[in-house]
Amino acid sequence: MDEKVEALDRVWVLVCKGDSCSQKGNPEKIRVALKQATRELPAKSVKVSYVSCLGMCGEGPNVLVCRGGKAFKRCSTADCPTIMDEVRKSAGRTDS
Ligand code: FES
Repeated sequence: MDEKVEALDRVWVLVCKGDSCSQKGNPEKIRVALKQATRELPAKSVKVSYVSCLGMCGEGPNVLVCRGGKAFKRCSTADCPTIMDEVRKSAGRTDS
C-alpha cells in the first residue's frame, strides 16, 4: 500500500457540533460522555471526534458511528482523483 494511504480498522464516533445540532442539544456533553464510555475499549480501536455537519440537521443532535476506511495523508488537490476513486468504491460505484 502507498505510504500516503493507510487502511484503518478503527471505529469512528462522529459527534456533530454544527449550528443546528448545537442549538437543539449539547454536543460537548455528548462527546465527553462518549469519550469516557469508550475508555473501556482498546485505546486505538475507537476515535471520538467532532464534525461540523452530518447532513441530518433536522434530527439533531446527531452522532454517526462508522468503521474502517482509508486515511489519505499529506494530501493536496492532486490527490483528490485518488480519494474520489475510494469514495466511488465505498459508494458502490466503480464506473468513472
Ligand atoms: S448541524 Fe448536525 S447534522 Fe447538520
